[in-house]
Amino acid sequence: MRNTITVMNAKGGVGKSTLVLALAETLANDHGKKVLVIDSDAQASISHMLLPQERLEAIQTGARTFVDYLIRNVLEQAQMPWRDFVAGGASDVDDARSIDLLPSDTHLTLFEREVSKADHERQLRITIGALLREARDLYDLVLIDSAPGLSVLTESWLREADFYVSPTRPDYICSRGLEFLRRFRERDAHMGFAEPLGVIINMKDPHSAEDAQYEQWLRQNAEHKCFRQPILRVSPLQAATRFAPRTRSYWAKYPGQTGACLRELAAELLERLAAPDAPRKRDTALGRAVRG
Ligand SMILES: Nc1ncnc2c1ncn2[C@@H]1O[C@H](COP(=O)(O)OP(=O)(O)OP(=O)(O)O)[C@@H](O)[C@H]1O
Ligand SMILES: [Mg+2]
Repeated sequence: MRNTITVMNAKGGVGKSTLVLALAETLANDHGKKVLVIDSDAQASISHMLLPQERLEAIQTGARTFVDYLIRNVLEQAQMPWRDFVAGGASDVDDARSIDLLPSDTHLTLFEREVSKADHERQLRITIGALLREARDLYDLVLIDSAPGLSVLTESWLREADFYVSPTRPDYICSRGLEFLRRFRERDAHMGFAEPLGVIINMKDPHSAEDAQYEQWLRQNAEHKCFRQPILRVSPLQAATRFAPRTRSYWAKYPGQTGACLRELAAELLERLAAPDAPRKRDTALGRAVRG
């Protein structure tokens, strides 16, 4: 099944982590989907959003994060199962209990530096490819929260995942991030690349004429395949990033229009995943060689 999605825009602060959180919780709460969230950012934003601080700190202190898994398997060439590093029952939404998380930590940056220094990019990609192959069968959906910019790890996700979606704010700078990604996809195309699933317009101010103009401009470009439902800049989404000490209902976390918009977005995501005419991911000779 093609169900692995990297959430990526080279531009920071466009709402990648917030949308991974909201989509995972909507898919779990509304559709009963079993979702694996992979935190691929040293800032560990999505890990903080999905776990209580004490639990995350215990995982980090105990060297049980996704970064520790990568260190063992890529740098030390151990054969640790990635499932041993999964934190189950993530999320503070009472009916979204089917979310698992591979949490991150700040030393991801150091790991990536070591990978480049020691020429382990190929091993990294093999490790990521193998993880995704197994996760595809164990979960209904795998959502990868990327760091801003373009690291060796992000490149591995982009080349090994089935799809990528790109959140963007409706403004000039953020749309440059999309253009950068498009150009990157075209470079070394023979190395394989995830299929673009579409652009999600996020943090739209409903009262801004400029935002409306940019939204229109983004939608005019068919290549963007913009999702029908824009996500507005609203306080519940800003607050959603703080893990609540007590579990709450989906509607308490995403009230009114916010929840309704997220439901539309999640339904469209599932629709696009199920589209029977979606072309197969390019299975290149190099891709096959790297996957082994
Ligand atoms: N639709 C929204 N409405 C209001 N606030 C939002 C919305 N989406 C995101 N935010 C807020 O914007 C900020 C940036 O969001 P987030 O951390 O999800 O972006 P990001 O793209 O993951 O950033 P980074 O590139 O640093 O990883 C956060 O404070 C978040 O609460
Ligand atoms: Mg983020």
